[in-house]
Amino acid sequence: MKSDKKIAVVDFGGQYAHLIASRIRRLGAYTEILSNDEPISTYESFAGIILSGGPSSVYEPNAPKLPNEFFQIKAPILGICYGHQLLMLALGGDVKSSHSKEYGPAVLQIQNQGHSLSKSLSLQTKVWMSHGDEVVSLPKGFDIVGSSENCKYAFVANESEKKFGIQFHPEVTHSEEGEILLKNFIEICGVTSSWSISQFLDQKIAELQKQVPVGKNVFLLVSGGVDSSVAYLLLVKALGKDRVKGLLVDTGFMRKNEVQDLLENLHQVGIDLTVWDESKIFYSALRNEFDPEKKRGIVGDLFLEAQKKATTSLNLDSEHWLLGQGTIYPDTIESGGTKHSHKIKTHHNRVPQIEALIREGKIVEPIADLYKDEVRELGRYLGLPEKWIERHPFPGPGLVVRMIASPEKTPPKIDFTTLKLPKTAEIAILPILAVGVQGDQRSYSHCAVLNDFTDNWKVLEQSAVEITNFKKEINRVVFAPGIQNLDSFFYTKLTLDKKDTDVLREADAIVNRILYEEKIHTKIWQMPVVLIPVGIKPNSFGIVLRPVESQEAMTANFYEMERRTLFAIREELLKVPEISLVLYDLTHKPPGTIEWE
Ligand code: XMP
Repeated sequence: MKSDKKIAVVDFGGQYAHLIASRIRRLGAYTEILSNDEPISTYESFAGIILSGGPSSVYEPNAPKLPNEFFQIKAPILGICYGHQLLMLALGGDVKSSHSKEYGPAVLQIQNQGHSLSKSLSLQTKVWMSHGDEVVSLPKGFDIVGSSENCKYAFVANESEKKFGIQFHPEVTHSEEGEILLKNFIEICGVTSSWSISQFLDQKIAELQKQVPVGKNVFLLVSGGVDSSVAYLLLVKALGKDRVKGLLVDTGFMRKNEVQDLLENLHQVGIDLTVWDESKIFYSALRNEFDPEKKRGIVGDLFLEAQKKATTSLNLDSEHWLLGQGTIYPDTIESGGTKHSHKIKTHHNRVPQIEALIREGKIVEPIADLYKDEVRELGRYLGLPEKWIERHPFPGPGLVVRMIASPEKTPPKIDFTTLKLPKTAEIAILPILAVGVQGDQRSYSHCAVLNDFTDNWKVLEQSAVEITNFKKEINRVVFAPGIQNLDSFFYTKLTLDKKDTDVLREADAIVNRILYEEKIHTKIWQMPVVLIPVGIKPNSFGIVLRPVESQEAMTANFYEMERRTLFAIREELLKVPEISLVLYDLTHKPPGTIEWE
């Protein structure tokens, strides 16, 4: 494809960088991600350039930069967040390091209409902020287009030079009119209709046929999720049925009846799977583990061992059989896969042994360029039944990442009286740690619990945002439906064995049954049901409900469930003898992740 039809996204790391590329592609313009050390002529050949956000501060000694000549390029340039600060600094403005950070929603007030990039935006629009540093003065030739309460230079433009800077993230869906802004940028660059899923398919089939020449075949680990099913169909389309073999490893951390349902469903679309039961080995390797990254490491390694055992017994020698994986784009990014991104977590399909095989060219990942919504679109295109496509994403390591086996951790003493919370709100802190993501970096900290002080979701949301914004020791906030007074919590050790996994399996089945009965399954992107070692009675556990709305899982909003449904779920869960507490997660991502790990 000719470069003058493409937009470049310069990657400064962080979770949002690739999301920009995905959004632009969805809007029909072809995008490529470039690093910040390409020759100037490469950047010059694009029709427009976006500088992404990133986790660094422009004043850090090793912060990624661009050479001065870059900023003289004639093509339109849009700086986002870190990219905005870099652009302003390079062109003669100033950036101030700030001690406080701003995460979360803000209102952008357009003050100066008539700019090409703000065309069709409402005068007041909700945007998503995630930054520490801030621009404090503008280069010559730039005007303020819009500001938010805490950020004067939230949107600036030099119209004649076609250079723009924005502090917020238009690529996340929490920025309500972000798509309009990105569409405006595509128009400013003069690039339209240069990307579609059918173009992707043609290109990918040709690529796969080259990567897996005749004489070689692919052996794919199938989990039953949408991703590995689409990867399987795509491989079959490119290589033919006889050259692709699927294997399901039963880890013991699957959902209730999942393996059986899966076999039946796959059979309907003509896929015959081999099932390998490794549950005993997984339980015994994980029973004394609680550390999230170590759990992931163990799962990744055991998957590989199972695959090796299976390939030996099925006579699939490594000379003729490559290993296929249904890895999608966010999996590679969150494992620190791009040059500047910090590691959020290691995906089970990015453990060191797999990385080594990737370097040797022995891994085939047909959908690693796609985001979830694109995977679903491709699945439809390849004829996968709709009910399959609608399945909620389920993490590769399974229920392992939904069982918090953290040892008891004394909660830190935090003064919450400095916050503006309603008088009836009570706060406690859970005596365990869970994973989150703050300012593009992984965090492992405490979770605050609010009592059931209001049935107004907006008030609950504001309280959660306030707590995580101002109390850095807290990366998650939940509330306890039906509980007015937060008396004592009891810690009970939880083990990643069959007995405790069965408790979670039962809870997860109850929740999913009600989601289908209430017909809200498709309104929710995903709803982890998490088992925690904390109850309101001795020797009992708690369940955290984590329904989220999202498009790519890179960012997410907690879902506002009808209270009637929430209480129906709670009532059913409390009938399980081992469960005494039901909590509801109020944390957006960031600062929480979707899974608790
Ligand atoms: P987090 O918890 O980081 O998750 O917000 C983002 C999305 O990724 C899914 N997830 C995984 N998927 N292998 C996968 O195939 C994994 O190891 C894994 N870990 C998390 C998670 O369910 C969510 O959709």
